[in-house]
Amino acid sequence: MPTFDIVDGMALFYNDEGQGEPVLLVHGFPLSSELYKPQRAALAHRYRVITPDLRAMGRSDVPTDGVYSMDVYADDLVALLDHLGISMITVGGLSMGGYIVFALMRRHPERIKGVILMDTKAGADTEEGRAGRRKMAEQARAEGAAAVAEVMLPKMLTERTRTEQPELAAFMRDMMAATPVEGLVGALDALANRPDSTDTLAQIQVPTLVIVGSEDTLTPPSEAEKIAAGIRGAQLVVVENAAHAANVERPDQVNEALEAFLDRLG
Ligand code: MLT
Repeated sequence: MPTFDIVDGMALFYNDEGQGEPVLLVHGFPLSSELYKPQRAALAHRYRVITPDLRAMGRSDVPTDGVYSMDVYADDLVALLDHLGISMITVGGLSMGGYIVFALMRRHPERIKGVILMDTKAGADTEEGRAGRRKMAEQARAEGAAAVAEVMLPKMLTERTRTEQPELAAFMRDMMAATPVEGLVGALDALANRPDSTDTLAQIQVPTLVIVGSEDTLTPPSEAEKIAAGIRGAQLVVVENAAHAANVERPDQVNEALEAFLDRLG
């Protein structure tokens, strides 16, 4: 299993599959690189697909300094790109992964060739949203990751998919339940304190694809429309009958959109 030491023995896990133009896909909360299993399967025959686990999520180590923010996650990813000798890349993120892409665009725009924003939004948390993060962090500490997974699952997949494809529901639930509690609490703090990225939209000067599930209630299509309207030339794809984890729920539609976008980027 490929890992890479970010600092002082703290290792980041990543998958690096396929050959061709590289694309980095950043997972959301409370997920891991497993989120992109359907994309690795579909894209790795023509592209080099790099899917890391963020610090303290998936199989990556928990940092001893306990530091979590969108900027820190972004800098971890740039350190990984340096380690892999990749100077420019297309980067995609789902939800919190999208917030990290915004941080990358602010901090390292010269490294980014194209942008893919999936089921995400530009705005910061409201006060109510921050209170919800604190409540979830308390729940994570008291009851563990499995309890958080139960809360998040109905947001990730539509009811129909959860009923008709129990194996897919189990896949998502297991991925979330495996997140270290430190990683959950750290990510919730990073989510609550993330900046508003609305002003970042106009700074994105590279080709951009925006994807959203039509049934996403966490980051609904109205948010994706705002993102697409704010980025010059951005293309918006609404995936029908998909909730927040649209790439898992409707992989064929999402992969088709991704391949068409990556092909155009060349
Ligand atoms: C995610 O999927 O990364 C989170 O749900 C994002 C959020 O809650 O803002």
